[in-house]
Order: sequence, then structure tokens, then C-alpha cells
Amino acid sequence: MKAIVYTEYGEPDVLHLQEVEKPSPESNEVLVRVHAVSVNYGDIIARNFKNLPAGEFNMLSLFRVFARIGFGFSRPKRTILGNTFAGEVEMVGSDVKQFKGGDQVFGYTGENMGAYAEYLSFPVDGIIAPKPSHMTYEEASAVPYGSTMALCLLRKVNIQKGQRVIVIGASGAIGSAAVQLASHYFGAEVTGVCSTQGMEYVKSLGAVRVIDYKNEDFTKNGESYDLIIDILGKGSFSKYKASLRPNGIYMPVSFKSSKLLQMIRTSVTGGKRVICALATPKQEDLRFIREFFEDRRLKPVIDQTFPLEKAAEAHRYVEAGEKKGCVVLTV
Ligand SMILES: NC(=O)c1ccc[n+]([C@@H]2O[C@H](COP(=O)([O-])OP(=O)(O)OC[C@H]3O[C@@H](n4cnc5c(N)ncnc54)[C@H](OP(=O)(O)O)[C@@H]3O)[C@@H](O)[C@H]2O)c1
Repeated sequence: MKAIVYTEYGEPDVLHLQEVEKPSPESNEVLVRVHAVSVNYGDIIARNFKNLPAGEFNMLSLFRVFARIGFGFSRPKRTILGNTFAGEVEMVGSDVKQFKGGDQVFGYTGENMGAYAEYLSFPVDGIIAPKPSHMTYEEASAVPYGSTMALCLLRKVNIQKGQRVIVIGASGAIGSAAVQLASHYFGAEVTGVCSTQGMEYVKSLGAVRVIDYKNEDFTKNGESYDLIIDILGKGSFSKYKASLRPNGIYMPVSFKSSKLLQMIRTSVTGGKRVICALATPKQEDLRFIREFFEDRRLKPVIDQTFPLEKAAEAHRYVEAGEKKGCVVLTV
């Protein structure tokens, strides 16, 4: 089968189309003929891990060490990237009852990656579900990462109907799903923060107000929020505190140890708090999210599609930082 393989860390040109052995499913796995896979933050980081300066890794330094061990210190151990997929089941392992050949599915492989390929063997107890019936494969591949992350994170902060939420980084994969879920599922009043190009898009997701961070500092407009979600964790509790309502929460989705310490400190002092949480999506989260897409309460958002063989070009486009929603490779 064809796959995009990388055997050294580096710039997008390390991604090459190659012929590799087609996987065969274990007894509890399905063999998926992949039709589409989205290019996510994790793909970009994993492709160039060795050369990534510590300061540009947005999470705890300890995670960087674990990730380097998992992905390989000097060379990548997992040579095929891609952590979401949408496709058709071609074959099932001997113990599989949930799926049969011909079923259309979508899913999330997490740090195991492997979806930049024509075929993927995937365990049925992993994050996999029937594809929402009206969606194209391209649309479906854009759903599993951002939506399940956003759902897990929003559940940790117990948002109530009518509360005011602001999402900083609202045009990206997790941010755009957080805007949609917070407004359409949790019933919050959502403000999105993004760059000028993303404003119309974020408005279309259900944000009642959109702020262009290049032209306006939301901490200076006198508004206050019950929840501030900071996707890239570029802000700080001290900067945002005055924009939080009493008992309001600052949730940096990307965080280093200083923010963890603030979480511990503010959990003791009470009042306005910092909550750092890790999203650990499960199959039931994807199945839950699927219903929202099935009845069209949420919509997948694709910025651009590239054929699989143009994976390097897709990576360059994502790295340029102007995507809105997801970039998808079609296989
Ligand atoms: N806590 C967890 O469990 C967890 C799980 C997964 C990922 N993460 C973290 O989430 C991050 C990736 O999120 P993602 O996949 O949604 O990334 P993404 O798709 O690349 O989106 C990030 C968005 O941030 C916006 N942005 C860039 N600079 C900004 C600024 N100065 N102010 C406001 N917005 C800005 C960009 O939009 P514009 O074009 O509008 O600038 C971009 O759309 C990573 O740091 C990763 O470590 C955390």
C-alpha cells in the first residue's frame, strides 16, 4: 500500500510517499481503507520533534521528555503520521462483532498515529465509531481530534447555561469545536478571539462576539467572563484575572509547570481559579460527539484539502498558521 513515511525529523520535505506493507488486522481489529485524514498539531510537532526548541513545546517539559521517548530520540520510531481517519472497513478480525466489511467509520489514533496511509489496522475498543451518515470522509476526518478534546476539556469545568465563555484561539481545531460545543451544547454565551482572517468563520460557529487579537485586547474592554479558555496558553492568570467574574475560571489548554502551580495555589485560596486539564478522549466521547454531527447541531470545518502525496505541502500550509478549522489529506 502507499503511505507517507518519514524516517528522520525535519522540515516538511522529510515526508515521502512510499510503498509499505499493508497491515493485517489482529483478532480485535478492523482493517480500514482510509479515505481522509486531517493534519493536526501533533503531526507537525512529531515530524520535527528533534529540532523543536524546548520553549516552543507548549506543554509541561516532563511531557516533552515522555514524548521524545515515545516518538524516538534521534529518529522517529513511528514512521507514519496521522492521528485521525475516516474510511471504510475492508476486513474485520475474528473476534470483531461491532463492525463488518463496508461500514463507514471515523476515529482517532492518538499518539499511535499511522493514518497517512491507504490502510490502517485499528482496535475496535479504540476511539472509533460509525461515520455520521451525511458527512463526506473529508468532513468526518476533521471531527475526532478537535471535538473530542474540546468536549473532554469543557466537561472538566462544568459550564452552566447562560454563562459567559471566551475562547482564545477560536479558529483552530480545538478552539472551533469549543466555540460550537460551548454555545450549542452547554448553552453558554461565547466570545471568540482569533486573527482578522478567522473572524467571519468563528462567528459562523455560534460566537455572539468575535475579537481580533491583532486589533483589540479583550482584557481592556470592560467585559467579564465565567470561563476563559486559552488554547495555546499564551496568556496568564495575572493578565486575565480582572476579566474573570467572581469564581471565574482561567483554563490554559497548553500549560507549563508555572500554570500548574497556579492551579494548586488558586484551588486553596478559592475565588477565581486556574484549571489545567488533560483531555483523555474515549470511544464514548466520539460516539457522543457523533450524534451532534449526525443531527447537524455541529458542523465540521475544513479549510483546505490536499491529496495524500502532497502531505509536505499540507504541513507547510498548516505551519504558516493561517488555517481555520482543519486541513485534510485525501487518500
Ligand atoms: N490539554 C490537553 O489535553 C491538550 C490536548 C491536545 C492539544 N493541546 C494543546 O493544544 C494546542 C493545539 O491546539 P489546536 O490543535 O486547536 O491548534 P491549532 O488548530 O493550530 O489552533 C491554534 C489557534 O490559535 C490561534 N492563535 C495563534 N496565535 C494566537 C494568539 N496570539 N492569540 C490568539 N489566538 C492565537 C490560531 O488562530 P489565528 O489564525 O486566528 O491566529 C490557531 O487557529 C497545543 O498547544 C497542544 O499542546 C492540549
